[in-house]
Amino acid sequence: MILQQEAHQRISCDGCPVVLPPGEGRDVMSAREFEAHVDLLIRSRYSILYIVTGEEERAETALHAVARMVSPPRHLVIWDFVAGFGAAGIAKEDPFQALDQVLSRSDEEAWLFVLRDFHRFIDDVRVTRRLRSLARSLRALRKTVVILSPVLKVPQELVNDVTVIDFPLPCMAEIEAELLRFVGPERNRLGEPAREALIKAALGLPMQRIVQALAQGIATDGIIDDADVALMLEEKKQAIRQTEILEYCAEEEGLEDIGGLDNLKRWLAVRADAFGPRARAYGLPALKGVLLIGVQGTGKSLSARAIARAWRLPLLRLDVGRLMGALVGESEARTRQMMRLAEAMAPCVLWMDELDKAFGTAQQLDGGTQARVMATLLTWMQEKRSPVFIVATANQITHLPPELLRKGRFDEIFFVGLPSDEERREIFELHLKRLRDTQFRQFDLDRLVAVSAGYSGAELACAITDAMHQGFADNREFGTDDIVVALRSTYPLSRTAQEAIDALRDWAQSGRARSASREFVKRPASHRQPFVPPSADEEGPEPNRLP
Ligand SMILES: Nc1ncnc2c1ncn2[C@@H]1O[C@H](COP(=O)(O)OP(=O)(O)OP(=O)(O)O)[C@@H](O)[C@H]1O
Ligand SMILES: [Mg+2]
Repeated sequence: MILQQEAHQRISCDGCPVVLPPGEGRDVMSAREFEAHVDLLIRSRYSILYIVTGEEERAETALHAVARMVSPPRHLVIWDFVAGFGAAGIAKEDPFQALDQVLSRSDEEAWLFVLRDFHRFIDDVRVTRRLRSLARSLRALRKTVVILSPVLKVPQELVNDVTVIDFPLPCMAEIEAELLRFVGPERNRLGEPAREALIKAALGLPMQRIVQALAQGIATDGIIDDADVALMLEEKKQAIRQTEILEYCAEEEGLEDIGGLDNLKRWLAVRADAFGPRARAYGLPALKGVLLIGVQGTGKSLSARAIARAWRLPLLRLDVGRLMGALVGESEARTRQMMRLAEAMAPCVLWMDELDKAFGTAQQLDGGTQARVMATLLTWMQEKRSPVFIVATANQITHLPPELLRKGRFDEIFFVGLPSDEERREIFELHLKRLRDTQFRQFDLDRLVAVSAGYSGAELACAITDAMHQGFADNREFGTDDIVVALRSTYPLSRTAQEAIDALRDWAQSGRARSASREFVKRPASHRQPFVPPSADEEGPEPNRLP
């Protein structure tokens, strides 16, 4: 069959085949490509299509175009629960009768039956059974049923009869056309770079919201100009926030704010232009992402934010835990929504923070939802062709599914360990310079490095903050002594979690991951003895006493 040669199939979380258009070099198709694709499916006699979209009007316009395009052209008829079919209101409030209509219309003619919001009825045993029988009989006829719904809901019995297609969000060309149409030349005062920025800011939004933002821009001052780019970005941030799965983050830190992690930085620097058109022309494959595994507080989240800023890409933070919705079927829908949004925003950085927590054993949920979401994510990570660069972070490997660590999911897995002497010096230097730019030389870095072996970057930053509080409370400037006291009065995590840290480093060192730092740093020898907590009559490790 033509379709099987040309199209590329993947299985959705519900188990139904999701058919993607032939190699476009990206997963996001334009509305035109969508039309061509549905046309091909119809000609190949796929009898029940399920289109997932919240943009009913745009999808129906596209379907009307398909009905005209396909040979012979099809009669397009729309059913919804309230209005039934057509002006006569046939099969009003009766989904079962609506399916009867599909069979009773003349077999001599070609039809496209669009059923709005049919997910509401698809669970009814009569509807499910009727659809199954229909799927079989329609194969011999020029009749296609298209279910149009904002959510994907396919009962197990229908998995092999229903083909799911995602309706694409507006692409750049469509947004540009709408911008020209809606704003008109007399109100359009956008300069060239701002026009492109506005269109990019609108990517990922449904057309209705794009128009809404433009209307707001016009209502404010009568024109659309460079200032309205921010308005569109705000609209997008809101849309993303409303998903409750993704968060649009401000990337305040850059790679220059990370102390150490030289290997990681070098790896990133070499790939800084890998998303540009030059890289595509060169034939570079799209980057997939990196996994950063390591101890708490070593700069993994910091690195994720810094990558987006260094590469000048938007940063989307995914809350993997939230993908696991409360209702069955919801998780799958959320996963698909997330992937679509990330792809529409591409090129972008998708930050999956604390992946091990979401997939940890503690969260073993319902009958396989977690496994299905994971499988969908993994397939997507492997197959996605759009430039969505994933930065995943995790503290432990034991909670991660082994498939995730296999080659092919990420371009590289980095182990982020405790900072070396040199790295701690850099971290102190960065933080102190930021806080006390001119007096920074007053701090004794050698001493700070010497007393902080085994401390993580976050613990160093915390010690500086504690020292500042002390100085401030005493109404004086803080100094090296205060930082040393602060360090000495806390136990570094490397003491309390030494076994876990060693095990993780050994795992990484056995060739499973690359070191983010120039070398694999061993815990200081003094920390290797089993840790004995202070007894009740002891006050703890040299509390608030200068050494
Ligand atoms: N290499 C570093 N350079 C500069 N600052 C650092 C570094 N590592 C940690 N920090 C400081 O510690 C803070 C916390 O680090 P971050 O949140 O990135 O740790 P993490 O590795 O993500 O930890 P967790 O595993 O607990 O999420 C940072 O915001 C920064 O102030
Ligand atoms: Mg973190």
